[in-house]
Parts: sequence; C-alpha cells; structure tokens
Amino acid sequence: MKYSLQSGSIPSKATDCIVAGVWTKGKLTAPAVALDAMLEGELTRIVATGDVSGKVGDTLFCHPKSDLCKRVLLVGCGDEGTLDARNYRKVAGAAIKALLKATAKDAAFTLAELPLKDRDAAWAVTQLVQACDSNVYQYDHTKSKKKHAHHLKSIAVSSAVDANRKALGEALKAGESIAKGVSAAKELGNLPGNVCTPTYLADTAVKLAGHYKSLSTKVLTEKQMEKLGMGSLLSVSHGSKEEAKLIVIEYKGASKADSKPYVLVGKGVTFDTGGISLKPGLGMDEMKFDMCGAASVIGTMTAVAELGLPINVIGVIAAAENMPGNGATKPGDIVTSMSGLTIEILNTDAEGRLVLCDALTYVERFKPKTVIDIATLTGAAVATFADQTSALLSTHQPLADELLEIGQHTLDFAWQLPLWEEYQSLLDSNFADIANIGGPKAGTITAACFLSRFTKKYHWAHLDIAGTAWLSGAQKGATGRPVPLLVEYLRRQKA
Ligand code: BES
Ligand code: MN
Ligand code: ZN
Repeated sequence: MKYSLQSGSIPSKATDCIVAGVWTKGKLTAPAVALDAMLEGELTRIVATGDVSGKVGDTLFCHPKSDLCKRVLLVGCGDEGTLDARNYRKVAGAAIKALLKATAKDAAFTLAELPLKDRDAAWAVTQLVQACDSNVYQYDHTKSKKKHAHHLKSIAVSSAVDANRKALGEALKAGESIAKGVSAAKELGNLPGNVCTPTYLADTAVKLAGHYKSLSTKVLTEKQMEKLGMGSLLSVSHGSKEEAKLIVIEYKGASKADSKPYVLVGKGVTFDTGGISLKPGLGMDEMKFDMCGAASVIGTMTAVAELGLPINVIGVIAAAENMPGNGATKPGDIVTSMSGLTIEILNTDAEGRLVLCDALTYVERFKPKTVIDIATLTGAAVATFADQTSALLSTHQPLADELLEIGQHTLDFAWQLPLWEEYQSLLDSNFADIANIGGPKAGTITAACFLSRFTKKYHWAHLDIAGTAWLSGAQKGATGRPVPLLVEYLRRQKA
C-alpha cells in the first residue's frame, strides 16, 4: 500500500473513494461538511434518510454524481465531542475493512484532523496508517493458491491545517515504518515450525542487514555458545535436530558511534513442545508462535532502520527448538548458565527463561542504557490479561513507568505486575543455585523473578507477551505486538 499526505480538508485530486466521518444524529464532521458543499448537499440528503447511524465503526458507501470521487464512504464516529483514541482506532479499522471489500483502487481519508479528546492529529495519522496496513496484511506463504490482491493500492490522507504538514509527514512515515515492522513480525510468527527454525530466524536477520546499511547481523553457533558457557540456553535444544542460534542485530544511528545502545532481547523458541515435560496435544500447534518475542525484535529493528533513529540499538534473539528427543534435558537435570549460576531444571517446559537468561548475561558486554526482553513466557500471563495486555515487570521503575505510559499512548497496552523480593524464595532449589520453576502460583511473576537474577548490571524491563502476541480461534494469527510499543519507546530516546 502506498500512503501519502494531501493538503486541503477535502482531497483536491480525483479519487475512487473519499472517506468521511459522521457523528451520531446525522451530524457531519467538519471535512464532511466541506465535502457536502462540493457535492451540492448530497451528504445532507443521505443522512436525512436516517440510514446513517453515526455509531462508531458503522459504514455506508454512497455514490453521488461527482467528478471528484466515484464513491464516498461514510464512517460513524460516535457522539460529537466524545471521540477518543480507542474509538478512533475502531473508526479507522472499520473504514479500511469496508474499503478492502470494495473495488476502489485508491482512496482519500479525511479523518486525520477529527477532534480527538486525548490525542493530536499526528497520533491520528500514525494510527490510521497502522490500522490500514494491519488489515491489508494477509498470510499466504504456505498456501498453494495465493490470496487475491486487494484492489486498493494507495491511500491519501488529507490535512486541512497547513501548519501541521511537517509533523503529519513524520507521523505518516512513522506509521508506515511501524506497520512494516508489525507485518514482518506477523509473517515470522505465522510461519510454521518446520519453516521458521532457529536457522531461518538467523537467515532472516542476516538478510535484513543486507537490506539496510545501518544494520549488521552476527550469528553465534552452538559451538560458539558452548565456548561462552551458555549451558542454560543450549540445554533447551539438546532434544532437537535444529541447531540453536544466538542472533545479534546491531543498529548504529547515533552520531557518536560508541553511544551506549538500547538493547532488546527476544525469546525465539521456534516450537515449544514442552520437551520431556511434554505439553498436552490440544492447541499445541500454537506453540509455533513461541518465537513471537524474537519476531517483535526483528520487526522493531526493521522499523528503527526505516526511521533512521539517531540512537544505537541492539536486538538479540535466543533461538532454539524445544523437543523431547534423544539427549533432551530431563527434569532434575542441572545446568550451568553463562553467569555461573547453576539451574535445576524441574520442568523442561519452562524453557523460555532458560534461553533468555544466557542472552541477558551476554548483553552485559554492550553496557546497555536499558534492556527490554520480550517473551511469550507464561500461560499465567494469558490467564491474567487475555489478548489485551502484555505483562510488564521491571527492576527499574522509571523504565516501567515510561513503558506503561507508551502502552497507553500507542494502544499497545502493557500493565505492571510486582517483582518484589518476597517472591524470589519460590525459586529456591536444594540442589542448584536456583530452580527454573516457582510452583503453581504467580507464574508470570516467578518467571520474571528468575530472569531478574541475570539482569543486575543494567536497567531492565520484561514484557510477557504470551497473551498479546497472537490470537486464537477463527482469527488465529500473529498480531505483531508489541512492535508499536517498542518502536515508540525507541523513538522517544536520545543517544
Ligand atoms: N511458551 C510457554 C508459555 C505459553 C503457554 C504461552 C501458553 C502462551 C500460551 C512457556 O514456555 C511455558 O510452557 N510456560 C509454562 C511454565 C511452567 C512450566 C512453569 C507455563 O506457563 O505453563
Ligand atoms: Mn514451554
Ligand atoms: Zn515456551
């Protein structure tokens, strides 16, 4: 999809469709009033029929006689004066869904400057592009018949306020870059476990660096990880024929090359059977999504490179397949992590923390400004937050506060759980320094407690995206979250 900005409250160029908002009670939004004048009162006549509810997300195509547009898509924006960020997203989503079903090849949206209670026009433009693109994405990599391409090829966003042009231009670019990152993350997440292996993730990261000059990728083999003493990470892939990989993607955007980096660490378990602590069969296919943390790192690095942010960023992916094969780790086995801490593996299904802890030790060498890890870590996070909210746990409250605020701002929500000292003793082991599970209670917290043992040298936050990274049921598929949250975090940082 091509996106562009156009000046004027209503588009000046002829288009297949103009999208205009309507409030309830048949009241036209300001751009719709201007459009109505161009169309000689046609919109007024249409709303007078009572067929336009104006309810958030209701849509109606109409076909006035006009050289300017073949059709108008009216989209409900709710009661005038009440439109907020959440409903704006619904409005944008409904409009693009309707458009993609039609035969319009191009469209002009007049929704950029609707009065939002809690956001500005730049936010609206970024959100609009994201909403459009996330509906345009279709998975077909492993379908023998490719989905038919949408008719819609380009979207213009019109803006009446000329003073906004620079800001809106940047907002449009941000939306496009985030959308690109989200699509990349979705695609990797959706690929099956027999395609998207640790090696595939590594190859993808290498290709990405071939595409952007600002990126470079290094891949560590099992042999190299052994030398570094990553006994914990390596214990996860012992039962698999797929070789584990540690993938390091470096982005250099700061004017001072040695400026300390922001580091992202993603869980890249390309399939999680549970290992010897085998998972039940029902729904196990969804454990192909257990690399969505890694996918979000690749998606975010893509967006960062697209945007050319003036900071340094390093994305690290701990990639492994968790299988119950010959040589697989057994419950009770004890391994030594890169940090030197020994770990009693009481449950081989708690493997995410095992791959992450060595990656978290590894990134100490970068002397990071902050480290955020992203992982589909616990079923407990799904039980707590469903698919709405990522769990956030952190040892550095200012970082947690920042991520919480950005979660609200981007609608890529996160909510904090406590990481208090009192929970740490749940990980006590009689035979090693630490156990890899903390019992049946507070699963998301004890998983984060485990990770916190390896993050003492820097400011750290953990996002458990087990609930938010993909949807189940008829809509089964990766969401690309939390790429919007991570990109916005990085956009706000200074070198
Ligand atoms: N990848 C899973 C977490 C998961 C489960 C994500 C279901 C989404 C849906 C993780 O590796 C895991 O198996 N966690 C266990 C930990 C337990 C053994 C302490 C869990 O949450 O059940
Ligand atoms: Mn598991
Ligand atoms: Zn897992």
